[in-house]
Amino acid sequence: MTLAELSQQTAQDFEKAYGRPPQWIAAAPGRVNVIGEHTDYNDGFVFPMAIERYTVIAAAPARNAAKTIQLRSAQGDSTATIDLTKPLKPAPKGAWFNYPLGVIAGFLSRNQNPGGFEALIHSTVPVGGGLSSSAALEVSTATLLEVITGKKLDPVEKALLAQKAEHEYAGMPCGIMDQFISVMGRKDHLLLLDCRSRKPELVPMTDPSVALLITNTNVKHELTGGEYAKRRAQCEAAAKALGVASLRDADAEMLERGRSKMDSVAYRRARHVISEIERTLHAAEGVRASNWPTVGQLMYASHSSLRDDYEVSCPELDTVVAIAQEIGIKGGVYGCRMTGGGFGGCTVALVKSDQVKAISDHVASEYEKRTRIKPTLFESRPAAGATVVKG
Ligand code: GLA
Repeated sequence: MTLAELSQQTAQDFEKAYGRPPQWIAAAPGRVNVIGEHTDYNDGFVFPMAIERYTVIAAAPARNAAKTIQLRSAQGDSTATIDLTKPLKPAPKGAWFNYPLGVIAGFLSRNQNPGGFEALIHSTVPVGGGLSSSAALEVSTATLLEVITGKKLDPVEKALLAQKAEHEYAGMPCGIMDQFISVMGRKDHLLLLDCRSRKPELVPMTDPSVALLITNTNVKHELTGGEYAKRRAQCEAAAKALGVASLRDADAEMLERGRSKMDSVAYRRARHVISEIERTLHAAEGVRASNWPTVGQLMYASHSSLRDDYEVSCPELDTVVAIAQEIGIKGGVYGCRMTGGGFGGCTVALVKSDQVKAISDHVASEYEKRTRIKPTLFESRPAAGATVVKG
C-alpha cells in the first residue's frame, strides 16, 4: 500500500469513526538499519533508511470537548482519551498510546498546546518487527502536533522530543537512531548519522541494480526485554574501564591494551561496538562508490559480531542469514544481517534487483522448512521521512 493509499484509507476510517472528514493528516515512516547496530548510544555512527511503510494519523478539532484528545487505533479498535486539564502521566507499561501520550506531553512542556482533537491512526509498519513502529508512531504524532499548533520544530529537537517520549512514557532507553531517521529520511538516500555531533549526512542510493530485501522472522523473544538496558550498561562499564567518555573514543588497539581491566563480557560488547563503528564508515564509502560486494561483506561481518560478541541475535535471524549466505552473490545476494535491537524481528539483505523474486521465494520456503514459521518478506527503496499529507 502506498502512502497515498494508506492516507486515503485513514481519512475514510476517520470519517466512519467520527462522522466528518479529517482536517489534518500526518505521516511518518518505519526504518531499516543497513549497518551500525547498537552504536547510537555509544556516540557512534548509524546508517539507516526510511522504508515505504508508514504510520498515518488523521485528525480534526474536538467538537464538544475542547480539552480532550481522543486517539483511536484502526488496528486494535482501541481508543484512548486524554484529559488536557490534568497533568499527563504514563499509562501502564505496554499501552500502545504511551507513545503519542509522551509526545503530547513533550509539546505541552514546550507550551505548544494542541487543544482537544479527535484522531485515528493506521499503520503499515509491522508492530514488534524491529522496524521502529514506535518511532513512526511518535514522529507521526509530533508531525500532527506541529500542524495543529502551527509551529514547526527544528528536526533535531523533534527527534529528541520523540526519543524522550519513548524513554519516559514507554520505558525503553533507546538511542537516537529510529526517531532521527523517521524525521529526516529522504527518498533514494541512506542517512549516515554521527550520533555524537548529531550531524546527519544523506548518502544517495539510486543504483537501480540493487535492492534491500527485508525478511521478518515473525518471532519476538519477549523474555529478553531487559537485555537492551543491560547492553547499554555493559558498554558504559567498558568505556569507564578504558577511561573514555564513550566507546566512540576507543579503538581496537586501546581495547586490547585495556582488556585486563574488564570482564570478558564487557570486552566482547566493546569489541562489537568499536568494530561496528568502523564497518559503518566503510559501508558508507562502499555505498558512495556503489561497491556492493564490499557493503555486503560488511553486513555479514556485522551480523557475526552481533551474534557472537554482542549476543543479540537468535536462531531464527541466524537461519535467514545462513540461507542468504548459501544463495551467495551468484544467486544475487551481496550481504545480509539482523537489523534493529535484535532477539527476533527482521533481517536486511542487499540483493540484485533483477533477482529479488527468486531470492524471496527461496528464503521464504527454506526458512519455513527449517523453522516451521512463515516469514514475511518485502522490498523497500529508501523512502521519505515524516510528512504532512493534509493540513
Ligand atoms: C533499537 C533502538 C535504537 C538502536 C537499535 C540498535 O532499535 O531504538 O536506538 O539502539 O535498537 O541499533
